[in-house]
Amino acid sequence: MENGEGVKAMSDRSHQKRILILHGPNLNMLGKREPDIYGHESLAEIDAGLLKRGAELGLEVETFQSNYEGALVDKIQQAAGTVQGVVINPAAYTHTSVAIRDALAMLDIPVVEIHLSNINKREPFRHTSMIADIVAARIAGFGSYGYLLALEGLIEILKKG
Ligand code: DQA
Repeated sequence: MENGEGVKAMSDRSHQKRILILHGPNLNMLGKREPDIYGHESLAEIDAGLLKRGAELGLEVETFQSNYEGALVDKIQQAAGTVQGVVINPAAYTHTSVAIRDALAMLDIPVVEIHLSNINKREPFRHTSMIADIVAARIAGFGSYGYLLALEGLIEILKKG
């Protein structure tokens, strides 16, 4: 019985859409880091909210944070063929990383770019996004709520096929 249930659970999960949520450098410091700009919520709290909302929407959500460009590139490469959509806040790498852009460009699944702050309202060097022209959609300036908007928006994109 236990095995049977296990198999059922596995096959149910196999029908779930899988979404990868990527956080770039310094986002592990959320809550402590410039709270006037980035808010008081920790990354663990944001991730918990995403997992909860994902479960409500019938999604399997995986979150991953790294301070290393190569680790983010590796994770994006692994996403090919294993997830149906990606939400990414590349943080400072937004403005500099050709490597992350190239990795995302290899994916044939929708990618949503999200920023806690409104990057266009800030210093000029933050106005450039290396990925803006290759993502399906962008969200900025809603704080941590933007991650939930990104997740829900991604589902709408996936529904349209
Ligand atoms: C950020 C904006 C970036 O300019 C900055 O380097 C970050 C966070 C945001 O979420 O507002 O680390 O991506």
